[in-house]
Amino acid sequence: MSQLNLKSIKNQAEKEIKKTENLTELEGIFKKYLGKTGVITQVLRSLEKLSKEKKAKIGKEANELKKFLKLLFEQKTQAFKEKVKKETEESEWLDVTLPGKKPVFGHLHPLTLARRRMEEIFQSMGFSIVEGPEMETEWYNFDALNIPKNHPARDIWDTFYLKTELSRSENEGEDEATASSPTELSRSENEGEDEATASSPTELPKEAKVKMKTKFSSPGGLLLRTHTSPMQVRYMEKNQPPLRIIVPGNVFRHEATDYRHEFQLFQVEGLMVDREISVPSFKAIIGEFFRRFFKKEVEFRLKPDFFPFTEPSFDISMTCLVCAGKGCSACKNTGWMEVAGAGMVHPNVFKNSGLNPKEWRGWAFGFGLDRLAMMKYKINDIRLLRSGDLRFLHQF
Ligand code: DAH
Repeated sequence: MSQLNLKSIKNQAEKEIKKTENLTELEGIFKKYLGKTGVITQVLRSLEKLSKEKKAKIGKEANELKKFLKLLFEQKTQAFKEKVKKETEESEWLDVTLPGKKPVFGHLHPLTLARRRMEEIFQSMGFSIVEGPEMETEWYNFDALNIPKNHPARDIWDTFYLKTELSRSENEGEDEATASSPTELSRSENEGEDEATASSPTELPKEAKVKMKTKFSSPGGLLLRTHTSPMQVRYMEKNQPPLRIIVPGNVFRHEATDYRHEFQLFQVEGLMVDREISVPSFKAIIGEFFRRFFKKEVEFRLKPDFFPFTEPSFDISMTCLVCAGKGCSACKNTGWMEVAGAGMVHPNVFKNSGLNPKEWRGWAFGFGLDRLAMMKYKINDIRLLRSGDLRFLHQF
């Protein structure tokens, strides 16, 4: 091994280190010269064969070269590291003074807010929450609630009737047996009897009633429920009083819309049945509900009304909170908003549910949740609730 050789190794190594462009390349070159089988390592190993003087001289020079190259590698490694750090700092630079982007959070719809609050209040007064089908039979929506076919009271609810296989075959005169409606049956059954009882579906023979309830599409087919009252009968058929329930849910009416009317509404039915139940307990519970729902004392009144499934019947109106009773478009300038129908459960409804009207008494109500939400949030047009207009919705 000559001095010349070491010199050329040094020159070569220096050149290669200079040319490297990244850490990986640099590591390769390090191995080449200083690794276990690297050039310098081999030079040092080969010294054994040399004479003592040469060994001392070349050994010293080779070790100096090793030190020198190591330093060079370290410097170059450091330079690379700094370069990478600088580049990352530049590319990932963050201006912490820039205003942040506000995340858009969803929130509950005013009808949901009102529904949840109403449920909480009634639950705390011992009422259970139950739900019923939106697609209902004519029996539960009308007949069972003491509203026989062709009775003018049906006109109170403009109804969406549904076409079913069965109702189609009824129209075509097929399948006579299942097509006959309960009222037709009861009429022929009770011919010549007292008008009032003749029109009542309770007078049906037992087999006919069973048939009506088990045949889903009979009698007279299906409809979109016009109110939540059918659940009164459905629930009492299966549950023995005393009972307290509320029934929240959508109802549908074939109606023209205006700022007080929609064709789809949200109702909350209420029913309380026990042996000793009267209007004062009803008034007390409704008063408590209003107080807690509106978080203040609100004036409300019961006015006589007519519903075939309650006797006596009344409607519940409250001071219009949109205008504080002064009169506005929402309350038709009366200062009062009608928010519910109510009354004492009619004996025929008990009978149709399989309960003895002499044993049980009850009251029921049907609140329009849309109207309650209008009052709570001072909304002057009911149509805004289902408009999907974000300018409206973002206010809640
Ligand atoms: N179901 C009635 C309607 O939608 C409202 C109603 C009236 C419900 C009297 C009741 C009631 O429970 O007792 O117009």
